Amino acid sequence: MLRTVHTIEDLRGEIRTWRQAGETVGLVPTMGALHEGHLSLVRQSRAKVMRTCATLFVNPKQFGPNEDLDTYPRDEAKDAAKLADEGVDLLFQPAPDEVYPSGFSTSVQVGGLGDILEGEHRPGFFTGVATVVTKLLLQSLPDVAVFGEKDYQQLLVIRRLTRDLNIPVRIEAVPIVREADGLALSSRNAYLTPDERAIAPVLFGTISQVAENIGRGALPQEQAEWGRDQLLRGGFTSLDYLSVRDAETLDAVDNAARPARVLAAANLGPTRLIDNVSV
Ligand code: PAF
Repeated sequence: MLRTVHTIEDLRGEIRTWRQAGETVGLVPTMGALHEGHLSLVRQSRAKVMRTCATLFVNPKQFGPNEDLDTYPRDEAKDAAKLADEGVDLLFQPAPDEVYPSGFSTSVQVGGLGDILEGEHRPGFFTGVATVVTKLLLQSLPDVAVFGEKDYQQLLVIRRLTRDLNIPVRIEAVPIVREADGLALSSRNAYLTPDERAIAPVLFGTISQVAENIGRGALPQEQAEWGRDQLLRGGFTSLDYLSVRDAETLDAVDNAARPARVLAAANLGPTRLIDNVSV
């Protein structure tokens, strides 16, 4: 049965009881507005460990001043019902001042990897993510923590911080869950108008074509340029980036000798979509 706790003390108390019984623990951090993508993270945790704790916290520190913190989709009762249906054992749903009490002044910044692509276009985003994820990991000390490949750069940033800070947790990655037409599931898809929703799958179609062409020997930089043009022709209003990067370091690549990833962020009116595929 799903139990919900709101304080770090209660979270630790529940996890201590599991540990005393010799049970392994998985953590699934979320910001709510749960969809099949999140539920796939839960399923991965449940397949790997005996107890799963999901967290629901819309982290103010990862939203820029002009971003959608106030309008971010929230449906906590529905989220709790979905987690209960999936067999989650514990939901940690803290208030903002439980996570960031008055006087909070520490942040976790992942240099290099956190400064490019998303980090360049959303200053402060990865510091917000890294800070909250570090806190959640230290609050719960799970055996595994599960993150989606939809936020591919976030996944690498989290892997890097756990390694750099010697946090003893295994980071599990789960593939992107997509709609039938290829659009990656995202809580922000709810913002799309019907017309924008019809255009949105062009993002996956384009980066898939770029990846396929590079796999056949085409040059990454030329393909990236082609892909950017395709997105704008296909109806995207503007583009933050479409780039072909090393799958581990996110360094720019000029051939497909090592595993690579095509990553893109593009805007449809006020809605920003991100996606990525492997080459
Ligand atoms: O991916 C998300 O939903 C968030 O960035 C995370 C990892 C829960 C941190 O707030």
